[in-house]
Amino acid sequence: MTHFLSIEELSKDRIWKIIDNAVSLKTERKNGGHKVKPLTGQTWAMIFTKASTRTRVSFEVGIRELGGSVMFLSSSDIQLGRGEPIKDTARVLGRMVHGAVIRTFDQQDVVDFANYSGIPTINALTDDAHPCQILADLLTIRERLGTWEGKKIAFVGDGFNNMSRSWMWAAKQLGFELCIAAPQGCLPTRQYVDRLNAANVSITTDPVEAVKNADVINTDVWLSMGQEDQSAKEALFGDYQVNSALLKHAHSSHIVLHCLPAYRGKEITEKVLEGHSDVIFQQAENRLHVQKAILAKLASYGQTFRGMFA
Ligand code: CP
Ligand code: NVA
Repeated sequence: MTHFLSIEELSKDRIWKIIDNAVSLKTERKNGGHKVKPLTGQTWAMIFTKASTRTRVSFEVGIRELGGSVMFLSSSDIQLGRGEPIKDTARVLGRMVHGAVIRTFDQQDVVDFANYSGIPTINALTDDAHPCQILADLLTIRERLGTWEGKKIAFVGDGFNNMSRSWMWAAKQLGFELCIAAPQGCLPTRQYVDRLNAANVSITTDPVEAVKNADVINTDVWLSMGQEDQSAKEALFGDYQVNSALLKHAHSSHIVLHCLPAYRGKEITEKVLEGHSDVIFQQAENRLHVQKAILAKLASYGQTFRGMFA
């Protein structure tokens, strides 16, 4: 693995290995810190064109705790924000830093950055994918329920945003049952479902059908970053709130996940969010541990590739 760009590109074995390593790193951190610091001597850049709390903080802390230095580059502060092409930005940074973490709109920009820079590149969210978040969610499911194998996972909300798409690929790779409930207009396209080609993923417009006997109920914002002005889209989601009435249909020992930030009174009620807050904030913390496992895996590639000598 030289880059971490999507769940789609990860094998089942790779996902398991990252999560196993995240568990070890989490334990090491609790026991006082890391003896081996694979990012020692490396500088990583974080290029963000969208807002972030969890991703930014967890990567900055994670890179430092693994011995590296980190440089946060908001797109509004660098020439990218004034129209410099990503391929030029990539070729400059590739000669100066050892790795990059990118949050932006277009998945192709992250792919192009990886290809043009030649340095290990991590997708920290695009409109298509949020792979770091999914690994944190899987770790949380493992900690809370023992495993995702044999579990039913429901996703209620926007069936075609970065989170629901990433869940679909996680289900495809890992084989658990996933049911997505979304309103018409927010469902995955036929073409996407055909490409996914996963019999264990079902899609419905009925939130009760998705939540019925589910072990894990996931939701996310109705309007993702960049869609804030789409009030017509938001109006479609009235029946898709994760609330106490909907959760009555779930398995008796279900957990609720939310990648955060949450909009109480919209995709989730205050009561449900606070009632499940111990899991939801454990899920947020797990971003740190899984991302360190990803960074540790990519560190050796960052060390050997030195664009500046090319
Ligand atoms: N869940 C998540 O990615 O949060 P941030 O947008 O705060 O980084
Ligand atoms: N779907 C959300 C996820 C935020 C972490 C968004 O893209 O805004």
